[in-house]
Amino acid sequence: MQISYEELVKEAYEAKKNAYVPYSRFHVGAALLTKSGEVYRGCNIENAAYSPTNCAERTAFFKAVSEGEREFLAIAIAGDTGDYLFPCGVCRQVMAEFCNPAEFEIIVSASSKKYKVFKLEELLPGVFSSRDLDKMKTI
Ligand code: THU
Repeated sequence: MQISYEELVKEAYEAKKNAYVPYSRFHVGAALLTKSGEVYRGCNIENAAYSPTNCAERTAFFKAVSEGEREFLAIAIAGDTGDYLFPCGVCRQVMAEFCNPAEFEIIVSASSKKYKVFKLEELLPGVFSSRDLDKMKTI
């Protein structure tokens, strides 16, 4: 990694400041590190119709992918609970679309100095991916 885990976690806490959360008041920030060393920040963005809500992690991914990024090293996640904040299942699946589950790191934080590092495969075992689609037998 070109920057430290702690620096990436700090970026996630900065990203959290922009969370648009009028309904849940649950602020989340994420910082996504690309293989080229860029950091893309994301926050959760809620909606009055609820289901269009986008998590912080997906905001970071979609910002990066829409700028042409395709290779990622790690994502840090920050919340306000004082406990480790893990990504939801939908965000884990989005990570699996772009990242090698054995390599991509998810940094869950409880504070800017207290964090744990997991590989995506630890948080999403038995992942469904394009490799499964490739196995389909033609009849
Ligand atoms: N949320 C995230 O942004 N990331 C997570 O990992 C968990 C949940 C958001 C979605 C919603 O805006 C709020 O937190 C409450 O679920």
